[in-house]
Amino acid sequence: MNAIKNDRAAWLKAGKAVCSNPPRKAPAKAWRLVLLGAPGVGKGTQAELLSDRLGACQLSTGDVFRAAKCLAEGERSPALEAALHYMVRGELVPDETVLGIIRERTRCLRCCGGFLLDGFPRTVAQAEALEAVLKNNKVSLTAVLNYDMPIDQIVARLSGRRTCSKCKAVYHVANKPPRVKNICDHCGEQLIQREDDRPESIRVRMEAYEKSTRPLIDFYKKRALLVTIKAEGSPEEIYQRTRALALAE
Ligand code: AP5
Repeated sequence: MNAIKNDRAAWLKAGKAVCSNPPRKAPAKAWRLVLLGAPGVGKGTQAELLSDRLGACQLSTGDVFRAAKCLAEGERSPALEAALHYMVRGELVPDETVLGIIRERTRCLRCCGGFLLDGFPRTVAQAEALEAVLKNNKVSLTAVLNYDMPIDQIVARLSGRRTCSKCKAVYHVANKPPRVKNICDHCGEQLIQREDDRPESIRVRMEAYEKSTRPLIDFYKKRALLVTIKAEGSPEEIYQRTRALALAE
C-alpha cells in the first residue's frame, strides 16, 4: 500500500491548524486503531510503522503535551501548564484536560484516512468519552492493539530511549540508533532523553498504568475489539505479528 505521509503537525497544534497532508481520497480501508500497553512497551514505535504502512495518522496525547512544553509560558492555558507538571512526575494528566485536547482535535478522528491513537484512552472514563465522540461522528474503532511484555524488558527500553526534540520521532541508543549520533534522521534536530524516563518517574508511570489503564483490557475485551500482541522481538517482528493478528483485510 502507498504510504500517505503521516502529518503530526496539525494534531500537535490543533486549534485552527489545518492538516497539511490530508489523504486525497479515502484509502481502500481506513484503519481506526487504539494502541494500548504499559509505558515503554513500544506503542510509539509500532504506531510509526503502522502509520507509514497503513497511511493513518499517529495521534499521541503524550506528544501533544510534550509539544506544549515548547510554547512560551504565556501561550499555555492553565490546564496545559498543570498537565506538564503531572507528566514530569509520571502521573496521569486529569481526564478533563485530556478530553479537552481530544475534543479540539475531533476532525482528526473523522479523517477518511483513519487514525492510530497512541496513549489515549488511558482510563475507563477516557474510553467512555472516546466511544461517545466516535458515535457522534459516526465512526467506529477497527481494533484495540494491546502490546504486552515483561516489565524488566520494558524498563531497559525506556532507559535507552531518545526522542527528537522537534518531530518527536523515537530512537533507542542500542536497538534503534539514528544514522548520526544524537541527530534525528527525519528532521536533523537534536535527540533528547525525556524527563519522565528518570527511574522515579518510570515507577510512578508503571503504577498509574496498573491502576488506571490495565482495566481497559477488560473494557475492550467486552466489546470484542481487543487483540493482544506479544511485544518481544524487533519492531519489524512485532509489526508482522500485528499484521497477522489484527490487520487481516
Ligand atoms: P506517553 O508519551 O503516551 O508515554 P507512555 O505511554 O508512557 O509511553 P511511552 O511513550 O513512554 O512508550 P511507548 O510505548 O510509546 O514506547 P516507545 O515506542 O517510545 O505519555 C507520557 C505522559 O503524558 C504520561 O505519563 C502522562 O503524564 C501524560 N499522558 C499522555 N496521555 C495521557 C492520557 N491519555 N491520560 C492521562 N495522561 C496522559 O519505545 C520505548 C523505547 O524502546 C524506544 O527507545 C524504542 O526505540 C525502543 N523500542 C521500541 N520497540 C522496540 C523493540 N521491538 N525492540 C527494541 N527496542 C524497542
